[in-house]
Amino acid sequence: MHTPVLLKESIGYLNIQPDGVYFDCTSGGGGHSEEIAKNLSEKGMLVCLDMDSEAIERVKKRLEHYNCRKYFYHKNFKDIDLIAEELGVKGKINGILADLGTSMFQLKDMTRGFSFMGDGELDMRMNKNSNFTAKEVVNRYTENELASIFKEYGEEKLAKKIARMIVEERKVAPIKTTSKLSEIAVKAYGSRRSKIHPATRIFQAIRIEVNKELDNLRIFLDKAIDSLLKGGRLVVISFHSLEDRIVKNSFREKAKKCICPETQMRCTCGGNNAVVKVLTKKVVRPSEEEVKSNPASRSARLRACEKVV
Ligand SMILES: C[S@@+](CC[C@H](N)C(=O)[O-])C[C@H]1O[C@@H](n2cnc3c(N)ncnc32)[C@H](O)[C@@H]1O
Repeated sequence: MHTPVLLKESIGYLNIQPDGVYFDCTSGGGGHSEEIAKNLSEKGMLVCLDMDSEAIERVKKRLEHYNCRKYFYHKNFKDIDLIAEELGVKGKINGILADLGTSMFQLKDMTRGFSFMGDGELDMRMNKNSNFTAKEVVNRYTENELASIFKEYGEEKLAKKIARMIVEERKVAPIKTTSKLSEIAVKAYGSRRSKIHPATRIFQAIRIEVNKELDNLRIFLDKAIDSLLKGGRLVVISFHSLEDRIVKNSFREKAKKCICPETQMRCTCGGNNAVVKVLTKKVVRPSEEEVKSNPASRSARLRACEKVV
């Protein structure tokens, strides 16, 4: 089971109109999708996307008894514009939600290779139709490439050391399992203290690389805002600072009234270029009670904006 995070808050920011059009771009276990469906009339429309086909099958079943107009797509949210076009709702969407990262279904299924808590093949694909897996990254990337993704996507202090150890280890035999990779990270840390499991950051980095998560997010944010109607809302929940920074900067950029170059002394653009209004002046975090009842929510951060043109 996947417990939806910041459920009340995200539904609140979506400001659901019963006859409106809503996209849940990361349907996962269907928790947020179901809550949206509960608030829609028969005329309302809910579009559920996920790049994991298993998630889509699960959500279809979960929403069986709701009678709003429902559509399910096994698609990457970076293609939201194409899906909106196909459904004839481009520029007419009332609310879009993205709850980034992985679901508990993905993490707990050891055959998917996302977790260092058990043993499985090094896979980490959210979309099983893709043929690029964690095994490719770990066994084919150069030492420099590995160090660079560990540093950039994992903010891993021992990036270079772990990359070197991986390259040494794979000279003996290819690294095929999550337990083998995790063992290398544990060995690299040795007696050094780490607040979290030593493999956490490199697993995060490899997952981001395999699924091109940050690139998808950048493309999605622009297209999602374009696809909203005036007054429509975009709500994004992220789980680490890299994602949150991209969301914050994108909203900030789109909320700028003046788009003149910073070097220009006087505004000549008219000063009315804002596309969105940011609704979350401060990032929204889960309450203490939520973290207590669902520790997996502890790093969640929510930001929301409203289209103003
Ligand atoms: C944190 S879970 C969502 C959980 C969901 N909100 C719920 O309440 O059950 C994130 C989901 O997003 C999906 N996902 C991640 N990146 C995606 C992308 N670029 N396009 C579509 N789905 C994506 C993952 O496959 C996963 O199922």
